[in-house]
Amino acid sequence: MSYKDAYITGIKKAFEETPYAKWLRQEGVAIHEGFTVEDVRELELAPWLRIGGSAVFITLYAQMESGAGLSIVEIPPGRSLEPERWCCQKILIVEQGVGSTEIWQEGDARKHVFEWGRGSVFAIPTNAWHRMHNLGREPAKFMAMTNAPQVMRGFDSSDFIFNCPHAFRDLYSSDDDRFFIETNDKHSTKGRPGRTTNRWETNFIRDAWGADLQDYQKAYGGRGEGFIMSGNTGGVHEWPVGRYHQAHYHHPGALLHPLHSEGFVMLWPYQLGMRPFESGHGDEVVIEPWKAGGLYSPPGNWFHAHFNTGPVPARHLAFYGGTGFGDVIPQRADDFSAIHESVREGGRQIDYSEEDPVVRRLYKTMLDQKGIPVDMPDFLFERQRP
Ligand SMILES: [Fe+2]
Repeated sequence: MSYKDAYITGIKKAFEETPYAKWLRQEGVAIHEGFTVEDVRELELAPWLRIGGSAVFITLYAQMESGAGLSIVEIPPGRSLEPERWCCQKILIVEQGVGSTEIWQEGDARKHVFEWGRGSVFAIPTNAWHRMHNLGREPAKFMAMTNAPQVMRGFDSSDFIFNCPHAFRDLYSSDDDRFFIETNDKHSTKGRPGRTTNRWETNFIRDAWGADLQDYQKAYGGRGEGFIMSGNTGGVHEWPVGRYHQAHYHHPGALLHPLHSEGFVMLWPYQLGMRPFESGHGDEVVIEPWKAGGLYSPPGNWFHAHFNTGPVPARHLAFYGGTGFGDVIPQRADDFSAIHESVREGGRQIDYSEEDPVVRRLYKTMLDQKGIPVDMPDFLFERQRP
């Protein structure tokens, strides 16, 4: 059995016994299970009685491992969903349409209202009541990501998520009119030259598809912004035509949602080392295509690298998981920056100069088929002399 098949078989068996899996069966909702989603906007929906709209729940295998819940929800034109509250993290990504959200805490007389459109990303503060309205003439569709599977497992209860009366006023007050306004002034950079990461402090991104980004070096010539929303770290990353990311590994369940372009992701388990083709394990390397609107998620401690094979810069919206299962996997205390350090120096990234030569050749073959030149100079791949 291949590493991939063994991973899927093992994680499915463990997932089926979790409170979240049992809750999904009780809810009677539509479910899409898999390693990837080709296009979240094309998934078939079914009525979800709890909120009065249509939905499909997505259970990617790496999400089963990490404990993230994922759904696509549709609101018919001019209609509203039922009020809801979730005693867990919840982040929404608007895929299509325009609308508004009313939000308030238990016991509040005042409701805060903000508007959103395609590309908006925002977090619902833990356990805050909220109601989603479609203000347009086409169906509004959004993706919701939660850590409900972790919370249900922690309390061994799905009921707790929906019926906890506590108002977390230390996290959010409906008097705070600036909570859901995009803050364009709060950008910072950390890390040493060549290994920097950017951070954007905001609870609301107006349009992740079009947001301005700063230089960021995981891909040669890449740009990106990391952010923290409702305790969940994420980011928007973009890299040029004819280029790819350096492979790296980390905790399970980082969620990648391509926004622009197309390409593929290459993945292999950490146990196969930095050069899986060279060591005779090329048949264990998994290659999955992606395109705008898709979704994929690397398993925990699998190397993965993202390749752009499209004619425009590739942009991904990413969520890395917050305070979930990922934290129980031993990592260095400075693990955020260690991801961007070379494996040779104790980090978790394979620099271009250290990677398996087959990776670059395979990428060139794929780009040749499309008539797109590789735009990565030879010096990137030259070994540094000690
Ligand atoms: Fe990653």
